[in-house]
Amino acid sequence: MKSLISISQLNSLDLERIIERAIVFAEGGPDSQDVLRGATIATLFFEPSTRTRLSFELAARRLGADVVTFELAGSAAAKGESEKDTVLTVAAMGAQVLVVRHETDGFPARVADWTQRAVINAGDGQNEHPTQALLDVVTLVRRFGEVEGLRVAIVGDVSHSRVANSLMSALDTLGAEVLLAGPGEWLPESHFPVVESMDDVVDVADVVYLLRVQRERGAELTAGYHAEWGLDAKRAAAMRSEAVVMHPGPMNRGVEISDEVADGARSLILDQVANGVPARMAVLAEVGEAL
Ligand code: CP
Repeated sequence: MKSLISISQLNSLDLERIIERAIVFAEGGPDSQDVLRGATIATLFFEPSTRTRLSFELAARRLGADVVTFELAGSAAAKGESEKDTVLTVAAMGAQVLVVRHETDGFPARVADWTQRAVINAGDGQNEHPTQALLDVVTLVRRFGEVEGLRVAIVGDVSHSRVANSLMSALDTLGAEVLLAGPGEWLPESHFPVVESMDDVVDVADVVYLLRVQRERGAELTAGYHAEWGLDAKRAAAMRSEAVVMHPGPMNRGVEISDEVADGARSLILDQVANGVPARMAVLAEVGEAL
């Protein structure tokens, strides 16, 4: 795999291989320090991030790579340098793999065209977040043994969510049953069934995957959102006995999820964060093999 721009590049065998590789890394073996020794990985984040950037940097270091970080704040962009010149500058320093986040759909593909370098999409606009989908399916496999047959309800601001776009595709490819729920104006046209209420979601789902209301992308939060579509302790108590709660973060506590649920026994939210490192190690290792 030269680059990872979209989760749809990966068929079920690719996904299963990457998941298996991530789980091997998560369980501590094999020795990973030589996998990317001598390689330089650059993280180019034109939009804020905590989880994705830090976990890519940890993943690259655990594979023995050198890591350089570009963040918009404090960069020469403040002096008027263009995005293309910024990207070409980092590539000219010898970075062979560029991990790119940007608010514009399609920006990582443009970076690949400009530089001919390996590019990993770390989230572009409302389009895709493929490594989030990978860490989510790794989390499900580690919890349930497999993804096939799981009923996963994705709830909330689906239409603004690059996380949902990539996750729906990965789950579908791996044979999960995907359900969508949320205010009608936030649900995209799709072939996935829609669940009409949060009470119905908790009745049927093995996984309740909550999404952040993305006010920065135009989603308007109504006063009644938490009561109608939020997951609180009372609703969570009605979930199936083995059912779990997931969220890609950052969370709006008190909006899509209550404190009790976010910090409760059903929550896999910190497992998702932890699995971000081995999942990204697996992706970097695959890309590294094609350098
Ligand atoms: N889930 C996710 O992409 O989080 P960050 O914005 O913190 O990277």
